Amino acid sequence: MPSLPSYERWGSLAGRRVLVRVDFNTPVADVNGRLEVTDDFRIRSCLPLFLELLELGASVVACTHFGRPKGRVDERYSVEPVRRRLNELCDGVELLENLRFNPGEEANDPAFGAALVDGFDYYINEAFSASHRAHASIMIPPTLVPSAAGPNLAREVATLAGLLESPARPFVAIVGGAKVAEKLGIVKVLAQKADTVIVGGGMAYTFASSQGRGIGSSLYNADFEPQCAQLLAAGHVLIPSDARGLANGAPFGPEGGPDPVVEFAADIPDGFEGLDIGPETIEAFRAAIAPAATILWNGPMGVFEDSRFAVGTEAIARAVAASGAVSVVGGGDSVAALKNYGLEDAFSFVSTGGGASLEFVELGDLPGLVALRESPFN
Ligand code: 3PG
Ligand code: MG
Repeated sequence: MPSLPSYERWGSLAGRRVLVRVDFNTPVADVNGRLEVTDDFRIRSCLPLFLELLELGASVVACTHFGRPKGRVDERYSVEPVRRRLNELCDGVELLENLRFNPGEEANDPAFGAALVDGFDYYINEAFSASHRAHASIMIPPTLVPSAAGPNLAREVATLAGLLESPARPFVAIVGGAKVAEKLGIVKVLAQKADTVIVGGGMAYTFASSQGRGIGSSLYNADFEPQCAQLLAAGHVLIPSDARGLANGAPFGPEGGPDPVVEFAADIPDGFEGLDIGPETIEAFRAAIAPAATILWNGPMGVFEDSRFAVGTEAIARAVAASGAVSVVGGGDSVAALKNYGLEDAFSFVSTGGGASLEFVELGDLPGLVALRESPFN
């Protein structure tokens, strides 16, 4: 991976205006009638850069998207809760209103990008987790002002690139989550690079079905079944051999539910749905993880928001933490799971980006990184 432009080359920033693209798309929840940030990981991760820029004498303005307001002003997606949290953590950084209130952002409109960076001397992209989006705030500023990669973005890229180029072996990749359509590409790439690819979560039922196993009414996408079968035939892709779940229609979610959890052997009968990996699978996945020297993990093993189906995800998190491997975890869900178990420090690297880290692993680059490298000011 060719190197990204660094802001260190700019020297003193006394009296200079710096626009920093961050990703403060954080979870929020209603607390006494007001939205509050419930996880400030992405905000905290930018504080070192802000403090450094302020110390160099710059005036610092940050900008972010927040949710998906679809190009219209929508107060529910105001950055106000994020701004309050930022102000509690750090003085002297201004945060612009949600970039996605303007349709020009997602349309990558050059005029919107130019207006955004107008009056600024420099631009820094510190939003690795949004750099897979070819949106105006990511793509246009590097064409107009001297631009650089923020320290977190640079570190995330270096970590992921290093892991893919020369992983210590055995290299075990763990891919979970609900959507086989979104994750199959990365499984294919990792099947080439890793010694073992563990597949769990809702996406695994399409793999199981491709072996002729019964999956009841578990998540399933017929379009991808042939590709799943091919991956399994090529070897070293490990899928669940048993499951835990519920009868159809039984409620599940953050509040749990009254219905008994059912364990399924290889086949899930009609009328039932798999929601987590089973005990035999946990043992098999543990055995595959234990000898690993490098682990890349993205996506939960089950519907972990319901504590009854968090068993698999927690077991895998603990196995990764205990393995002693260099471990990289990405994806909002996986990271949230680690925090639930107090394990975030047990991993070597926690990526801020879910979709972005997947796309980087799959394609080896991101539009936002290309924009920085191709800036005419380099
Ligand atoms: C994220 O939280 O995944 C990133 O901020 C990207 O958000 P998006 O998927 O709405 O583009
Ligand atoms: Mg996302």
